[in-house]
Amino acid sequence: MCPRVPTSLWCPLVPTCPLVPTSPWCPLVPTSPPYPHIPLCPRVPADPRPPQLSQRPGPEAPIFLPGDGPWGWALAKLWVRGAHFTLHEAVTHLLQSHFLGETFALATHRLPACHPLYQLLLPHCRFTFHINILAREMLLSPGGIIDQAMAVGREGTLELVARGTAALTYRELCVPDDLEDRGVTDIPNYYYRDDALEIWGAIESLVEGIVALYYPEDSDVAEDHELQDWVGEIFTYAVLGNEKTGFPSKLCSRPELVKFVTMIIFCCSARHAAVNSGQYDYAAWMPNTPGTLRRPPPRRKEEATAELLLGTLPSPDATGALLALLSVVSYEGGEPRPLGSRPQEPFSGAAPRRLLGSFRRRLAAISHRIRQRNAGLALPYPYLDPACVQESVAI
Ligand SMILES: [Fe+2]
Repeated sequence: MCPRVPTSLWCPLVPTCPLVPTSPWCPLVPTSPPYPHIPLCPRVPADPRPPQLSQRPGPEAPIFLPGDGPWGWALAKLWVRGAHFTLHEAVTHLLQSHFLGETFALATHRLPACHPLYQLLLPHCRFTFHINILAREMLLSPGGIIDQAMAVGREGTLELVARGTAALTYRELCVPDDLEDRGVTDIPNYYYRDDALEIWGAIESLVEGIVALYYPEDSDVAEDHELQDWVGEIFTYAVLGNEKTGFPSKLCSRPELVKFVTMIIFCCSARHAAVNSGQYDYAAWMPNTPGTLRRPPPRRKEEATAELLLGTLPSPDATGALLALLSVVSYEGGEPRPLGSRPQEPFSGAAPRRLLGSFRRRLAAISHRIRQRNAGLALPYPYLDPACVQESVAI
């Protein structure tokens, strides 16, 4: 489960979903198992409302309530959790972390090695091509793990990635804007928000310092042709040149550059950690994240029985394939590179080194605060502890 509070529980496969504002009824809904999750829930952050389990309102699409008995409510939660998990994997994780991170890395690798953006961003590109090639070969290949464990399969996942790309906005990748747009700036006990804002602030301070060193005036940003080619390539390939996303196609001032680079570093490090690191913790209890369901949703409340619930749950094979995958990707293997570690120290000169030293001290203070908070929580939220946040999308 994504540790973030979901912005919406609308299924992305249906016309009422904000991801597909104009599409007809979902063409991916099969008439035989496995059945994709297509519940219909209101878009109310932190205030879930009773769902119905079909996109077609009517007598065969009852709205389930907690008082309908344990099996009906359990089935309703099963379908909603499955829909959220599908959206999480295809859009939040695969698209918004891995594929976006790849476009950032590719554009950065085209910069000259002496360019300050190359020096600043190189640690945040580490192993991203490698892990994405593995994902394409092992997960997204025909008959691969996605086909085995997710009801929407490879074809549906790629369709969701395409729709998610069309619906992506620059603001949802920038933490302060995202929290404001989702209306979650003041809800209690939202640890993602608290930790993400602090890490965003630390990254922003580092980037401001580096930008001030290399770009004394706004005109220095606007006239850096290599920088403009870099942001133009990201605009072209990350969001396919779609101006509605709000992504910049050029950067004309130092604040614009600071925000854009902060977004990239945050997305490649903390944001990926938030959506990746807790997956096994929340998915090991399989009904919490059913990738595929074997029976259609009940058409009447009386159909909701223990037998239907057990028959709906994923098969042992699908469950095993999914949990094996999530257990691997939820833990960083090999040589961990926490945010700020930068073992190669690409920058030369005392001023960048002072900025990096300040960045590391600030991250250490954030880590200390998070660990103190978690020590008092029945369910800790460790995923944005900077000591556990990797610098790049590497798993
Ligand atoms: Fe990942």
